[in-house]
Amino acid sequence: MGKAASAINIDDLRTLAKARLPRMIFDYIDGGAEDEITLRRSVDRFDDYELQWNSLVDVTKLDTSTRVLGRKNPLPFFISPTASSRLFHPKEGEFAVARAAQKAGIAYSASTLASQKLEDITSAAPDVPRFIQVYVWKDRGIVKEFLDQAKAAGFTGCILTVDTAVAGYRERDPRNGFSVPPKINAQTVSQVLARPGYLMDMATSPKIRPVNFRNPGGGSANDVMGTINNLFDRSMDWKGAEWMAQEWGGAFAVKGIATKEDAIRAVDHGASAVWLSNHGGRQIDTSVPVIDLIPEVRNVLDSHIELIADGGVRRGSHILKLIARGATSVAIGRAYLYGLAAGGEEGVARAIRILKDDVERGLSLLGVPRLADLDDSLMRVRR
Ligand SMILES: Cc1cc2nc3c(=O)[nH]c(=O)nc-3n(C[C@H](O)[C@H](O)[C@H](O)COP(=O)(O)O)c2cc1C
Repeated sequence: MGKAASAINIDDLRTLAKARLPRMIFDYIDGGAEDEITLRRSVDRFDDYELQWNSLVDVTKLDTSTRVLGRKNPLPFFISPTASSRLFHPKEGEFAVARAAQKAGIAYSASTLASQKLEDITSAAPDVPRFIQVYVWKDRGIVKEFLDQAKAAGFTGCILTVDTAVAGYRERDPRNGFSVPPKINAQTVSQVLARPGYLMDMATSPKIRPVNFRNPGGGSANDVMGTINNLFDRSMDWKGAEWMAQEWGGAFAVKGIATKEDAIRAVDHGASAVWLSNHGGRQIDTSVPVIDLIPEVRNVLDSHIELIADGGVRRGSHILKLIARGATSVAIGRAYLYGLAAGGEEGVARAIRILKDDVERGLSLLGVPRLADLDDSLMRVRR
């Protein structure tokens, strides 16, 4: 059993991740855009929502289930798409995350920028409910190929990310000399030598890069920011979203919505799920914490439309607060990435387990045995 398995909370996994990863890789997970105000506030804002509870309720049986992109999820949270998991665990990457999700029965999302082939992720975790996240290439032929590849690999939901017309300005990355694949040069050598375990893993496994699309420019898609800025289509609009929803023809989420008007547009253009997100504070800085937006968006959506929320989730209580405000489900990003870096599959499993225990304990202490009955009547905003 590795150290990750005995982590008490997500912050412990973060500490282990920091000890395992070269600084540039840790900061790529941990950091946000510009002054990192969104990043910090997304976590801190949860504390302003204060809880009351129902006393003397029988909580011997709990039902923590919800649905995500049309499928039952035994827990209120699932795996958010994040780029190139092999950066954080060069040997296993996406396989470790998908396997841990499969064991917990929760849904997994692969990023456009995944570092393992979609069909190989399927072989590694054939029973995990899985969704594909898409950034849209200028060349729509590549988009079609990509969607076909995902369908063939058994992905049942599609997530269109709309908060990334260009990459946010994540200042830690240029300061540290971060790139994909990580390069060892004058700027990074001391960071990498300080983490010999990681260096060994990286040196004995294939080059870390996005592997699921051809690069129409002919060059290598070897830098995440460059890929986003050069390959993806800044002219993408709602007509483009509708085209994608039709091409996909199944459960379709629009991720990175920040207003009720756009939530309505997403549904009008074919979305079955609206996903409120500020990309974990990695895009525009000083954006509104998602928890504050939920009721006004929920109010304009029909009840069959799912509302997904993410950002800043480090505790099960954060998940319960998002659900209480009106989210159908919650996506987790850094919480599992710290686990992945700390201990591969075991670390991701630990992150999921910590949040699962938190959620179950939270519902018991709130006196709300069924997640579906949780609403914001037990919550007040601190003045
Ligand atoms: C390292 C990292 C890479 C990410 N890559 C992607 C991506 O490729 N596509 C995407 O839609 N979102 C991406 N995200 C955003 C997450 O899906 C999610 O919205 C965010 O991490 C939620 O905030 P949290 O990390 O505080 O939970 C990334 C986030 C992180 C931390």
